[in-house]
Amino acid sequence: MTLRFEAACPGGLCPGWSIILKGEPPSDASKFGINFLCDRDDQVAFHFNTRFPESDIICNSFVSNRWGQEERCTNFPFGPEEPFMIEIYSDNENFHVLIDQSKIMQYKHRVDDLKTITRVQVTDDINISSVEVTKKHFY
Ligand code: GAL
Repeated sequence: MTLRFEAACPGGLCPGWSIILKGEPPSDASKFGINFLCDRDDQVAFHFNTRFPESDIICNSFVSNRWGQEERCTNFPFGPEEPFMIEIYSDNENFHVLIDQSKIMQYKHRVDDLKTITRVQVTDDINISSVEVTKKHFY
């Protein structure tokens, strides 16, 4: 895993904060991802992982030391050297994922204590042009 960006919000990112990532996969992209991490126990509350060879998006969580059941999204709007914008935000029930302002999926929370989700990472094959972390709602 190659870390490209990481930000922390000690008060908790979910719900309330929106992450907007703008970037472009390189010509030989194989995968890039976004991880929402908990401040303890190496938990990944939400792993959003693109797989270019399969044109799939795999979503999952890493809790209690193991990956859970994968959720797949076959709507794959990414291409090598094609710029995109992803927004991810959460409410009390779900993470919501929008690409170029169209909603492509939602992912039901598996970590119950949302306040413990405090870090966001961007990884692997992506040339980032900007990351914006914005307060979306006041909870
Ligand atoms: C595994 C992969 C992990 C993660 C997981 C998600 O195969 O090694 O990095 O993507 O799938 O279910």
